[in-house]
Amino acid sequence: MKAIAIERYGGPEVLRLMELPKPAVMEKDVLIEIHAASVNPVDWKVREGYLQDMLHHRFPLILGWDAAGVVEDTGPGVTRFNRGDKVFSRTDIARNGTYAEYVAVDEKYVAGKPTNISFEGAAAMPLVGLTAWQALVDYAGMKKGDKVLIHAGSGGVGSFAIQLAKSRGCFVATTCSTAHVDFVKALGADQVVDYTKGDFSLQLHDYDIVFDTIGGDTYRNSFKVLRQQRGVIVSILEQPDHELAEKNGVRAGYLFMHPDGNQLAKIAELLESGEIKPVVGKILPLEEARNAQMMSQSHHARGKIVLQVKG
Ligand SMILES: NC(=O)c1ccc[n+]([C@@H]2O[C@H](COP(=O)([O-])OP(=O)(O)OC[C@H]3O[C@@H](n4cnc5c(N)ncnc54)[C@H](OP(=O)(O)O)[C@@H]3O)[C@@H](O)[C@H]2O)c1
Repeated sequence: MKAIAIERYGGPEVLRLMELPKPAVMEKDVLIEIHAASVNPVDWKVREGYLQDMLHHRFPLILGWDAAGVVEDTGPGVTRFNRGDKVFSRTDIARNGTYAEYVAVDEKYVAGKPTNISFEGAAAMPLVGLTAWQALVDYAGMKKGDKVLIHAGSGGVGSFAIQLAKSRGCFVATTCSTAHVDFVKALGADQVVDYTKGDFSLQLHDYDIVFDTIGGDTYRNSFKVLRQQRGVIVSILEQPDHELAEKNGVRAGYLFMHPDGNQLAKIAELLESGEIKPVVGKILPLEEARNAQMMSQSHHARGKIVLQVKG
């Protein structure tokens, strides 16, 4: 099969189009014929070798772990899916990924594709949807009426998170640059802080939840906008700063997203009902994975970048 893979860690130049064997199907695996895959920052972080101590990958390694496609085969222990089912998945990052014509994945990471969404739209959703859900719903306990600050609202995670928070009846503030102000307003943000013009921590106060997708000073300054003694900050980049948390009387946590087919099925319901719409900024052919990763690495992509595998 055709795949974009690497034989060593490095810059975008190590990404190569290769002909590799179709993946073997294990007991609980479904084999998905991929129609579309999406690009996430973790893909190029793996390519550069940042996570090599944590994930013991072997080469050649196929990158990317978000996909939508059609079930082509099932292992003998699979109970929930059949050949021909349209599905989407955040696949197992410890195994080969989805910049390819096929991926084998344990059925526990798979959910039925929302019927009203294209393969490209569905492929864009698993990682960002699961991350936003696990941060805002599972960790922060987001509820109706909460004031929620979502950093980088125009990015992959942020654009999903804004819609999720609005669907739960929250007041949503977000940060982005001038070019994306109208875009995040259209996603439902109630208040937008253009970070090129002003400091969000001077403009916002008494927030119940901050979702940090940036880290560094943005993370540390976010403690200032939280409601004292009650607020929650959840970061997907920074380990909790216990000193700041204690000083402000708030709860702080770090989240590393885990794949989960049942949770993905709940996200599929939100997509099917139209409460959340996929935000796809760019669709490129699989062969252009290198360009796609370079766009992601610019830190200024709008929404998701998707690779079309089967036209
Ligand atoms: N721990 C986990 O499990 C987990 C899960 C998912 C993602 N992540 C990490 O979270 C980060 C965000 O992921 P993503 O997929 O959303 O990335 P992304 O789509 O690449 O984010 C790009 C967006 O970030 C915005 N941005 C850049 N600098 C900003 C700033 N200083 N303030 C506000 N917005 C800014 C850009 O908007 P402008 O162009 O308007 O600046 C752009 O729209 C990545 O580092 C990723 O690796 C971690």
